Amino acid sequence: ARLVVLVSGSGTNLQAILDAVAAQGPRGYGAEVVAVGADRDGIEGLRRAERAGLPTFVQRVRDHATRVDWDRALTDSVAAHRPDLVVSAGFMKIVGADFLAAFGGRFINTHPALLPSFPGAHGVRDALAHGAKVTGCTVHFVDAGVDSGPIIAQEAVEIRDEDDEISLHERIKEVERRLLVEVVGRIARHGYHIEGRKVYIP
Ligand code: GRF
Repeated sequence: ARLVVLVSGSGTNLQAILDAVAAQGPRGYGAEVVAVGADRDGIEGLRRAERAGLPTFVQRVRDHATRVDWDRALTDSVAAHRPDLVVSAGFMKIVGADFLAAFGGRFINTHPALLPSFPGAHGVRDALAHGAKVTGCTVHFVDAGVDSGPIIAQEAVEIRDEDDEISLHERIKEVERRLLVEVVGRIARHGYHIEGRKVYIP
């Protein structure tokens, strides 16, 4: 399967996928990253893609007259690489109707909390502030809402008394990178089945 990965930051989830493809080979893993896109320049995630010799693209909201124009431009940039699956690995923008019309059902996101708890851009901070004892990460399909699409996989991560947002997010990301790589590979190799909101991956 052809993967396009979207990033907005350090890109360690992207790196985990690149490492899995390098270790297992595209045929073994079932997928290869064909391009990496971002909503901003100058981030480590894009440098990781460049180091891997991959095409990259950036679509900044402020470069477009309207949000709809940005969404269309992002859709076109992704479509140009003919992806089978699009993976948001820390991509911090909410995509619109055009993008979902093109890639809905094959657009996956990873979120550093146990959805439906603590959706949005500060899931780690919110779980900590709430005094939760357990949080985790969720891999899900993206729908029109914020972190609200059908859940594919989840894994729990304990919150320790001494945690701050950074230490907790790092512990979550260790689990998240493994979960995302596993889910993307399984869907790439075997596809998935969905009934209502329940997702079955072999
Ligand atoms: C991940 O925890 C992701 O769930 C969240 O932002 C983080 C991105 O980390 N949305 P990285 O850029 O993959 O290192």
